[in-house]
Amino acid sequence: MDFVDQIICGDCEQVLAEFPDNSIDLIFTSPPYADQRVGTYGGIRPAEYVEWFLPKAAQFLRVLKPTGTFVLNIKERVVNGERHTYVIELILHMRQQGWLWTEEFIWHKKNSYPGKWPNRFRDAWERLLQFNKSRQFTMYQEAVMLPVGDWAETRLTHLSETDKRRDESRAESGFGKKISNWVGRDKVYPDNVLHMATECSNRNHSAAFPIDLPSWFIKLFTAPGDVVLDPFLGSGTTALAAKQLGRRYVGIDIKQEYCDLARTRIVQIPPRLFEL
Ligand SMILES: C[S@@+](CC[C@H](N)C(=O)[O-])C[C@H]1O[C@@H](n2cnc3c(N)ncnc32)[C@H](O)[C@@H]1O
Repeated sequence: MDFVDQIICGDCEQVLAEFPDNSIDLIFTSPPYADQRVGTYGGIRPAEYVEWFLPKAAQFLRVLKPTGTFVLNIKERVVNGERHTYVIELILHMRQQGWLWTEEFIWHKKNSYPGKWPNRFRDAWERLLQFNKSRQFTMYQEAVMLPVGDWAETRLTHLSETDKRRDESRAESGFGKKISNWVGRDKVYPDNVLHMATECSNRNHSAAFPIDLPSWFIKLFTAPGDVVLDPFLGSGTTALAAKQLGRRYVGIDIKQEYCDLARTRIVQIPPRLFEL
């Protein structure tokens, strides 16, 4: 696997065409967003976004292991006063391509500062779409458990009869709960909303996400020694997170200046010893 622990400069579709099938454990990425303006990162127009993305998604599907996961950080733009539908269309096309759309996480940008627009409020969240090749994907839920929190003190001391048995969802969502299971526990599982601040020091890249974001998904979907790919690497955040957590990384970016930036950042992280 001579592509591992490398940052490769090029178009991810072409670079990945040289990669073997079923070789990556997690793909975590934030692609260029659709943009009316041509410039920033190629400026793919919203109406052309699905057509642009699908051949890349086909490569992601091929290189991902059957037990692997693809997490796509994306958000639709407002075009002509309404939300464009390219993300919804992309999900539908990716399902036709063979992906399962397994889950959707929300990244709540908790440091969003106030603003005023005539017809909407500040956009304070982004989607993280989870796709898989199979329903039997690898997931390490214990790795992202949280301290139980203060609510437990009051909520768990006086249990009702319903709390003591499994209470099935009345909306038939399949999400039942048994509150008494959590008595005496220090940690609980998180929900699918992640409250994380945006990256304020932009590290010479205008669209960098905070390192906590890839770190959380790397812990959830990979074990030490697994391979994490970011095909739109930017300033290198995903590769950095992977290296810090003792995973192996592959990063691809089309712009030489971002590859250089990512390489400069990654050599500063000492390699972590991990057990394979
Ligand atoms: C939203 S940014 C990623 C930012 C990154 N998450 C970070 O934390 O810095 C998207 C990146 O995709 C790169 N890009 C655009 N088209 C690409 C392509 N076809 N192949 C590889 N990289 C591409 C851009 O140069 C840009 O750096």
